[in-house]
This record gives sequence, structure tokens and C-alpha cells, in this order.
Amino acid sequence: MGERGEAIVLIGFMGTGKSSAGRLLAERLALPRYETDEMVTSRFAMSIADIFRHHGEPAFRDAEAEALREIPIAPSVVVTGGGIVLRPENVARMRRLGLVIALSAAIDILVERLCGSHDRPLLAGANRRGQIAKLLQSRSRLYDAAADLAVDTSDLTPHQVAAAIIHQLSNVRQRAG
Ligand code: S3P
Repeated sequence: MGERGEAIVLIGFMGTGKSSAGRLLAERLALPRYETDEMVTSRFAMSIADIFRHHGEPAFRDAEAEALREIPIAPSVVVTGGGIVLRPENVARMRRLGLVIALSAAIDILVERLCGSHDRPLLAGANRRGQIAKLLQSRSRLYDAAADLAVDTSDLTPHQVAAAIIHQLSNVRQRAG
């Protein structure tokens, strides 16, 4: 395994709480925060739904991979979009950046958290629960394979998620000496 940086990289399905935990973590640890979705939407100057509509998902994925490559190897909090694990080059880059933490949640919780979401083109169809189930099934093993640590956020508030991550980090860093 090559050398790894000191970033904290959050991965996981839509609605697992990556963005809110990432914001709190960056604040509490006084680290810069990078969020690939924000980097991509600012590059295109349009919403994710509009990027998918006008340019297609592959263009979004290309821009997402490029955003990840632009993040410097340095201490930071990196928040990714749920599909980041679809490309092996992204997984390699995230592991190069630092410690990869997978957030997860039970499907009922995801359905509830995502019910008001309008900027997630992959959930735009009529059967949102079915979409979530299908995507989860194909992606779960990708999140597991990419991650060093996992946090189930089903019963946690964003503050509790951030605290759980900080707790796990201190364990890992203690073990690493
Ligand atoms: C996606 C997740 C979204 C966003 C885009 C595609 C996915 O990010 O990148 O809609 O493929 O799971 P969040 O996980 O922040 O919702």
C-alpha cells in the first residue's frame, strides 16, 4: 500500500448524512472542507439535476473524478457524492487522500430522509423506495470495499455522527502510535 494522507474522506449512499457530518467535522477539527458535489455544481454553474439533464450522467462522473483529483493531499475533510465509488480510480484517489469512512443507514431511514429531495436525479422516478433499494444493492459492497471505518447513522443526529467519527479516529490514531 502506498503512502496515505491525513484527510478524512466520507463516502456512502445519498441520505446517510455525509454533508452535515462533514460540515460539523471540518468545524470541530478546524480543517478545510472539500465537497465534490459543490465543486462540480460550481464548475457547471448549475444544479446536479440540470447537469444530468443537459450534459448526462457520464459528464457528471467525469467532472466528479476531476474534482477529486484536484483535492490536495493534505489534512482536510472530504465529502463525496454517493456514486463516487463507481470508479476504481476514485477509490484509489480517496485512499491516497486519507482515511475513508463509510456512512450507512437503514433503508427506511434513507427513504424518510430523502423524501423531500429534489436535486437527486437518480431518485427522480415514481418508485423512490425501489430505486433506493436497487442502488443500495449494487453499491453496498463498493462502499464496504473502499472504507477503512464504518458508521451507521440510522439512529444518530449529525452531531452524534461527527462525534462517533472523531472517537473512531482517535482510536485509529492511538493504534497507529
Ligand atoms: C449521487 C449522489 C449525489 C450526487 C448525484 C449522484 C449518486 O450526492 O453526487 O446526485 O450517484 O449516488 P449525495 O450522496 O450527496 O446525495
